[in-house]
Amino acid sequence: FRVPVIDNEPMRAYAAGSSDRAGLEAAVKKMISQAPFEIPCIVDGKPVKTGDIQSQPMPHDHANNLCTYHAATPEIVKNAIESSLRAKSQWEEMPWADRAAIFLKAADLIAGKYRFEIMAATMLGQGKNAWQAEIDAAAELVDFFRFSVKYVEELYAQQPPRNSAGTWNRTEFRPLEGFVLAVTPFNFTAIGGNLVGAPVIVGNVCVWKPSPMATYSNFLIHKILLEAGLPPSVIQFVPGNPPEIVQQCIDHPKFAGLHFTGSTQVFRSLWKKIANNLDVYKGYPRVVGETGGKNFHLYHPSADIQSGVVQAIRSAFEYSGQKCSALSRVYVPRSMWENGFRDQLKSQVDSITIGPCTAFNHFTGPVIGRPAFDKISGIITKAKEAGGEVLAGGTWDDSKGFFIQPTVIVTKDPKSVTMTEEIFGPVMTVYVYEDAEYEQTCELIDTTTDYALTGAIFGVDRAALQRAAHLLRNSAGNFYINDKCTGAVVGQQPFGGARASGTNDKSGSISIFYRFISARSIKENF
Ligand code: SER
Repeated sequence: FRVPVIDNEPMRAYAAGSSDRAGLEAAVKKMISQAPFEIPCIVDGKPVKTGDIQSQPMPHDHANNLCTYHAATPEIVKNAIESSLRAKSQWEEMPWADRAAIFLKAADLIAGKYRFEIMAATMLGQGKNAWQAEIDAAAELVDFFRFSVKYVEELYAQQPPRNSAGTWNRTEFRPLEGFVLAVTPFNFTAIGGNLVGAPVIVGNVCVWKPSPMATYSNFLIHKILLEAGLPPSVIQFVPGNPPEIVQQCIDHPKFAGLHFTGSTQVFRSLWKKIANNLDVYKGYPRVVGETGGKNFHLYHPSADIQSGVVQAIRSAFEYSGQKCSALSRVYVPRSMWENGFRDQLKSQVDSITIGPCTAFNHFTGPVIGRPAFDKISGIITKAKEAGGEVLAGGTWDDSKGFFIQPTVIVTKDPKSVTMTEEIFGPVMTVYVYEDAEYEQTCELIDTTTDYALTGAIFGVDRAALQRAAHLLRNSAGNFYINDKCTGAVVGQQPFGGARASGTNDKSGSISIFYRFISARSIKENF
């Protein structure tokens, strides 16, 4: 069969006075009036309450919880794994057209019936404003599900091109033998959906450990997949204490793969644990992860100042810099810096407003929680003490929500703490380089950190752009020319980084699905 034509979900503007704005505002209001929701584990398709109750506070108003959830106990995790394994054979046998239909239907439900609800959950629980919630929980999540169907269709069509006389060669793309563990982050609702969706659509069963800070939006995705017809035990939803749940899953002999987005440090420790367990497993588990970043913009002296400043502000400060792709290192030539870049950057960052996502008129909102707030404010303090100049921002307030003013630090030390450490918050550090040192600056960018997730270069001098693209060829898995380093679109810019930033298996492309299948070559003689 042929899948329908797939295209990106159109994004909505939520302009004041529009019906979309009214619908979303109503959904947000309703959700606030009904919160906190009580979220169980979902094992075997059934809600399970464990009594170990934890909470997901709203980052803009931390005295109030969006939900409380029942943290999984070891017994629940054990049941979840066993239940997923029991469901495996039925799910594998389901014809591809039916599996595809479930994901296409789930995408339609998110794009339509549940759009405002899942956006509201992302706004209230993860601190996004309406537009950041739209590009994530509506557009990108829908795109992931729809494009998954297209890519898997293409993958299954990849059959051996030759048969010798009297034979028929074919390839069967089997799911992995065992279960996949998805460990998903707070910062994109869509990534949660994709980390479970990608293995599951090719026939795997999955245990889903959502981020405690995204429990409610992730619970809604699970609910929508069930409504779309996913057999109840294919995905087990087990919120709770991350290290315990993860350890129990990777100690299980039927553990077959990890699909992870989170910190480099946690990913490395999990990989080591998996390596130590190799004798426990039947095969070699697939380890797929997207981790940290220390992303850069490099401006060539030929770049346009006005648009360069806007792109830097957007990529560093949208969603308070809490995207793995977010800009944190900015390299500007002295001529540009002194001829307007500095002044425009300062005046525009000074005019940014931050506030609760419910207000619909702020550029950005809070950071996700107490540990993030403390870490980011601590790093800004350290940078000041080390001699960094605070050009804009540098203040914070946690009396109601976790608000940190977008902050620009100018450093004379290109290896200073804010140039090297991943911050995951609204902090941009600028290093002004001498115009004549463009190539040396490329080398500096490449060698300053081990991360290699996203980066961008700006300019109109073609030879200079080409030279930087070459010198920075290993510095970013997603590389932009005259565009900001955030905002990869499914089906357009496959996403992922190498080096310390991950296994670079490219979500939003066909590549990711190869990691969750194990091909069988079949030769039949007639
Ligand atoms: N895919 C997102 C971006 O490119 C980050 O996860 O901004």
